[in-house]
Amino acid sequence: MIDAEMKEVLSRNICYFATSTKDGKPNVIPVGLVEPIDDSRILLVDVKMNKTRKKS
Ligand SMILES: Cc1cc2nc3c(=O)[nH]c(=O)nc-3n(C[C@H](O)[C@H](O)[C@H](O)COP(=O)(O)O)c2cc1C
Repeated sequence: MIDAEMKEVLSRNICYFATSTKDGKPNVIPVGLVEPIDDSRILLVDVKMNKTRKKS
């Protein structure tokens, strides 16, 4: 559930998007092109995500 406060934070700020390999190695990147769509979905614009997009 993405509440109103979370939506505002997502819209106004650079966010950090974290993914992980299957064996638990984390990868965290800054993302600016982020918009909440509704109460359960977030739009992320992939311009230059490399490791983030890879399957481990
Ligand atoms: C302030 C800031 C905002 C960024 N916003 C985005 C974004 O919205 N979408 C995107 O694809 N890359 C964005 N980037 C670039 C990614 O963070 C960068 O390409 C990242 O190194 C990709 O790493 P990865 O190879 O681990 O996935 C942004 C970078 C900075 C510094």
